[in-house]
Amino acid sequence: MDEDQIDRITRLPKVELHLHHEGAAPPAFIRGLAQEKSVNLEGVFTSNGGYAFRDFVHFLSVYEAATSVLKSPEDYARLTKAVLEESAANDVVYSETFLSPDFCGGGDVGAWREYLHAIKDAADEAERDHGIILRGIVTCIRHFGPDKAKATALCAAETAGDWIVGFGIAGDEMKGKPKDFAYSFDMAREAGLHLTAHAGEWGGAASVHDAIDDLGVTRIGHGVHAITDLALVDKLVENEIVLEVCPGSNVVLNVYPNLAVHPIDTLRERGVKVTVSTDDPPFFHTTMRQEYLNLAKTFGWDEAVFAELNDTAARAAFCDDDTRARVLKRLERI
Ligand code: ADE
Ligand code: ZN
Repeated sequence: MDEDQIDRITRLPKVELHLHHEGAAPPAFIRGLAQEKSVNLEGVFTSNGGYAFRDFVHFLSVYEAATSVLKSPEDYARLTKAVLEESAANDVVYSETFLSPDFCGGGDVGAWREYLHAIKDAADEAERDHGIILRGIVTCIRHFGPDKAKATALCAAETAGDWIVGFGIAGDEMKGKPKDFAYSFDMAREAGLHLTAHAGEWGGAASVHDAIDDLGVTRIGHGVHAITDLALVDKLVENEIVLEVCPGSNVVLNVYPNLAVHPIDTLRERGVKVTVSTDDPPFFHTTMRQEYLNLAKTFGWDEAVFAELNDTAARAAFCDDDTRARVLKRLERI
């Protein structure tokens, strides 16, 4: 593949479906807030200024420590602006971000409304300035347990609409079972929200089956371990379940030792609807452009493959159809 081709691929307009709002915070932004508020973030950063973590569980605790400096709606507005500037610089035209009321007001509906208002205002401003469209997925945190998830689902149900478009679950996949969260997912579904769940990142194929069967999700965050169960792969294809695959995240967190052995290419070839996202880009030293570059070089994917991924992502987006039509228009090659 020549340089021109690579250049065209990395600059394609992109749709990103799997992005954690706090996980997208540039480390310098978090360090700046910590200084302003005199919060001690010892152990959170490497000597090079990146985020420091040894493994997934440590990553989750560093993530939560970094997030502890985000204390007000205004902080989240500033975060939203920083995140969307970076996404827009990577040609992302539409993005869905995971937002957790646990971090935004401690699960209280009134406080959550204030955070959401500030985030939405900042997103509207970024759409005016950079053309990028953002929508929110309220997300419970698995290792915080099912009771906290119920409060989160209530926040989601109370604010469901044309901006909060989905409900999901993130956090430590090895804690509890999807079924434990069925009540919260039922509440979100009844409020009209679309559903996604992290599964098959750390858990095996059974965790993906459980997320589909017990939570009724139409998208799976990661889902890469489905590759170990070809009957599950067929189920994903038949039910048109979309995978939000985050290859760079999987490599840095050592789900796979390198991209060459990552199953995204095989899943795609078997007919699974795969999409590409960054998860927590500064934690994993990645960007959407970097992901595209790595995938093009490793698997020889050309522009047509990436166009298909983006089309899949736009069609699987949880937004309303008018917004989807605008996004599809932006994906048309000029
Ligand atoms: N929260 C932020 N990033 C995550 C990931 N990759 N898996 C589960 N929970 C997360
Ligand atoms: Zn994730």
